[in-house]
Amino acid sequence: MTLEEFRTYGHQLIDRITDYHGGIADRPVMAQVRPGELIASLPEEPPLQGENFAAVLADLDNLILPGLSHWQHPSFFGYFPANSNLASVLGDYLSTGLGVLGLSWQSSPALTELEETSVDWVRQMLGLSANWSGVIQDTASTSTLVALISAREKASDYALVKGGLQAQAQPLIIYTSAHAHSSVDKAALLAGFGKDNIRYIDTDAYYAMRPEALAAAIERDLAEGLVPCAVVATIGTTSTTAVDPLRPIGALTRQHDLWLHVDSAMAGSAMILPECRWMWDGIEQANSIVVNAHKWLGVAFDCSLYFVRDPQHLIRVMSTNPSYLQSGVDSEVKNLRDWGIPLGRRFRALKLWFLLRSEGVEGLQRRLRRDLDNAQWLAAQICASEEWKVLAPVHLQTLCLRHEPAGLEGELLDRHTRGWADALNASGHAYVTPATLDGRWMVRISIGALPTEREHVAALWERLQEIVRC
Ligand SMILES: Cc1ncc(COP(=O)(O)O)c(C=O)c1O
Repeated sequence: MTLEEFRTYGHQLIDRITDYHGGIADRPVMAQVRPGELIASLPEEPPLQGENFAAVLADLDNLILPGLSHWQHPSFFGYFPANSNLASVLGDYLSTGLGVLGLSWQSSPALTELEETSVDWVRQMLGLSANWSGVIQDTASTSTLVALISAREKASDYALVKGGLQAQAQPLIIYTSAHAHSSVDKAALLAGFGKDNIRYIDTDAYYAMRPEALAAAIERDLAEGLVPCAVVATIGTTSTTAVDPLRPIGALTRQHDLWLHVDSAMAGSAMILPECRWMWDGIEQANSIVVNAHKWLGVAFDCSLYFVRDPQHLIRVMSTNPSYLQSGVDSEVKNLRDWGIPLGRRFRALKLWFLLRSEGVEGLQRRLRRDLDNAQWLAAQICASEEWKVLAPVHLQTLCLRHEPAGLEGELLDRHTRGWADALNASGHAYVTPATLDGRWMVRISIGALPTEREHVAALWERLQEIVRC
């Protein structure tokens, strides 16, 4: 592609993205395609000769866009929001357009320093003390993996430079709640702990970890000569946005010198609101925290913020220092390759910086408060209606609900729930996520896409009532 072609098609692409967002409400939220449909309509082999880019853009319109579910749609209530604020989209575009890599500070000084500054801005917005240092990882899954590797190396006195986990006399144990995200399991498995050494701690009636159960599990393991290593607590669990009580959990991790990692991938965004900070009361006792700026906050995917209290430990665990990456200023700067797994680092800070500068702290706070308010409004409608139930506390912007008409129970109720949720999604009018809670199907409604206003939530409530009548 020549520079002039890039200018032409680049402008066209921006127009397409603009029109996409402008007209998104008219599209069905969930893709209306069958498995294999796109593959069947694409050539099996790559083109031998380069094609006119206009033909590629035409295929984008005709083949690709119809095969997407629309996360930025005002009636997207699925999973958790993955908001792509348009200023941050420009930051992502620019990052790719500049094509620079942060292998070391010297390889792109501004890349490192903008990351340092913009992540520290977020630290302040979250109300975290200056004892925390942050870095951008791709996802919460990676952040939690880095946390558990760090915990492993603390508990094993840096076994990685000796015989590794294989040389440990006794297994190291990880504790988390039965409601933790699957990425915690995955991180523990990939970090070498093994499934047998993960303890799933009981939760209370609100799906939060019970500190007494955690204490008992630690004592049991100690009595058996095992080595408690780390606790992963969740602020805002995926199924119900439950809040594990950090203060008593932190007291236990201090008492036993365990690593405390806090997964606040979703709820972390809410900590920019002082009225929500009760949720992570005790956070300063943690060793590491993950907050996904690519969820509710609005940074275009991917941008996961990982905060640690002891960067020197992280660097000691992650550092490799081949001669070709060394420079004369290494003692004065941060080399962010030592703060995570990959060597190469994209200029992700641009999209975070663009978001923060274009919205400002107050703009972001206003939007999050709007969503919290909408969630409370919907919860009030549901609670006032006889056949509907809200199944868990609505701490944030996600509701777990079920339609429970008289006489329907057990498998029949499950079938009814799956039936109306699937019908709603297939209608294209809204996108919700069915999931199980206490062994029964329910539906999660996660409010908070950027264009979602009260009118869209009210329309959803109307549709829910209609769809269960069909
Ligand atoms: C609480 C929690 N932790 C972790 C994750 C995983 O996030 P990621 O896709 O960034 O790995 C999610 C995803 O929704 C989540 O809800």
